[in-house]
Amino acid sequence: LSYTSHYSVLKDECLEFLVQEDNKNPYYADLTFGGGGHSFALLESNQSARVLSVDQDPEAYSNGIQIIKKNGFSDRIQILPTNFINFPIEFRKLNLGIEGFDGILMDLGVSSHHFDSIERGFSFRANARLDMRMNTNSSDDTAEDIINDLDEKELADIFYQYGEERYSRRIAARIIEERKSKRITQTSELENIVFHSYPKPKRHGRPHPATRVFQALRIYVNKELLVLEEVIPQLIPLLNPGGRLAIITFHSLEDRIVKHSFKNIAGEYNNIRILTKKPIIPTEEEIHHNFRSRSAKLRVIEKKA
Ligand SMILES: C[S@@+](CC[C@H](N)C(=O)[O-])C[C@H]1O[C@@H](n2cnc3c(N)ncnc32)[C@H](O)[C@@H]1O
Repeated sequence: LSYTSHYSVLKDECLEFLVQEDNKNPYYADLTFGGGGHSFALLESNQSARVLSVDQDPEAYSNGIQIIKKNGFSDRIQILPTNFINFPIEFRKLNLGIEGFDGILMDLGVSSHHFDSIERGFSFRANARLDMRMNTNSSDDTAEDIINDLDEKELADIFYQYGEERYSRRIAARIIEERKSKRITQTSELENIVFHSYPKPKRHGRPHPATRVFQALRIYVNKELLVLEEVIPQLIPLLNPGGRLAIITFHSLEDRIVKHSFKNIAGEYNNIRILTKKPIIPTEEEIHHNFRSRSAKLRVIEKKA
């Protein structure tokens, strides 16, 4: 599958916060390159802007290398194939000759490319092996490992905590039952188990019963909440005076972490202030063009100049 062109969520709103007219040579960091939409918008906002990008997905990285060349941006952007938790260390290793960044952006979670690449196992729309790792080169457990190796309570907790799934216990019990006869390896098998764990009248509701379990597994496989919570405080020293950190989240669990981290940081450092009292959300028009943006929330903090 060629790389799905990604509709960049809240792009104008991000630019409004990150592009500051009086800054002639801004240096940005985009910690979630994906299809590169935000990175390229930042590069286009100013002919001397530079960007250091990150993506842990090997496909996003190799596609990124190609489109950076194709768009003629090779001299102003580079991309690192790593988890953004490693960003502070990797940045320092690069010795770019800068102290920090004028803007840092995170557009969290998986991209539409992940859902569209059926073989990656993120979606139950078609059958595939249960993988769900964003970094397919890592030795981390896949969704298959987790579904087959964890005990009933651990599974129920994952579905409840990361998916807010109310039938988490019934689903976990059914998985344990199925596992007795064979290993569960396919997205369709898991989808089927969840479907039949739901009470009959609820099976055909929307969203599809498997949605929350798949979300929960994906978050767990990629340790999404853990790396987010851990990295935010480490980004503060990497902001230049006047620099801003902008984070886009897609569900309440992530947004809660960003909101609380920002509050704590603003309380701890008197040179940090929160620019978004309420999170910025997409316009009706954006939601109409890109349904996935409906749950997006943008929060921004600034290091005072
Ligand atoms: C929503 S997409 C970003 C889309 C991008 N802003 C654009 O405009 O095309 C999120 C991307 O971040 C990457 N990603 C998510 N978590 C990551 C992490 N912890 N470290 C590095 N990359 C991560 C994913 O692989 C995915 O490509």
